Amino acid sequence: MVIEKNDIIKKSEELLSFMKKRRTIRLFDKTNIPIEVIENCIAIAGTAPSGANLQPWTFVIIKDKETKKKIMQEAEKVEEEFYAHKISDEWRECLKPLNLDVRKPFLEQAPYLICIFTQIYGKDKQGKRINHRYPFESVGIATGFLISALHHLGIATLTYTPTPMDFLNKVLGRPENERPFLILVVGYPSSKYDLPHISKKDLNDILIKI
Ligand SMILES: Cc1cc2nc3c(=O)[nH]c(=O)nc-3n(C[C@H](O)[C@H](O)[C@H](O)COP(=O)(O)O)c2cc1C
Repeated sequence: MVIEKNDIIKKSEELLSFMKKRRTIRLFDKTNIPIEVIENCIAIAGTAPSGANLQPWTFVIIKDKETKKKIMQEAEKVEEEFYAHKISDEWRECLKPLNLDVRKPFLEQAPYLICIFTQIYGKDKQGKRINHRYPFESVGIATGFLISALHHLGIATLTYTPTPMDFLNKVLGRPENERPFLILVVGYPSSKYDLPHISKKDLNDILIKI
């Protein structure tokens, strides 16, 4: 269905102002969200385009308190090592406005964690290895679908990437063809969270028209 010109411009402006309201949240309200909502949003992520339609992704929903706590403990170990020995001065400077800390209580507090894995390869029906095409690009796009779907429902997210993340394979029992892509922390935002004061580039700085 083709939408009439003025209507489609107006709709795109409305969508832009809605998407501008999405912010990364690092303090979550404990209010529960029905798991069906999370499942539907992951199904939306599963509609994303992917290299050769190989759909190289696995989404693990974690609601279980003990598993969330284990992930928090492992992530905090990684963060301590990262901030003590690995971070460059330049990176530290970039992170300053975000007020980050090695402690990650949101991993325990948020109602859900969605651990997203990239399948580097899959297997066909005969068990033969199939190398996935553009797996990281594909999973990045699917993750964008997921974040947008949750935002449309008023649900906030944090794209969390402790470095390295390979502890997730062990904690969640994932196979060696899956690489952790990120942990999506999901829940309603806490009214007590102070959003960092950051801005986005102007359209003119990111757009070239030919
Ligand atoms: C790939 C990726 C990795 C990120 N990793 C972290 C992270 O480990 N910890 C964190 O607090 N925020 C992380 N973020 C969130 C960014 O800091 C955040 O998106 C950015 O500051 C812009 O803020 P906004 O999402 O509110 O627009 C990550 C975002 C992306 C896309």
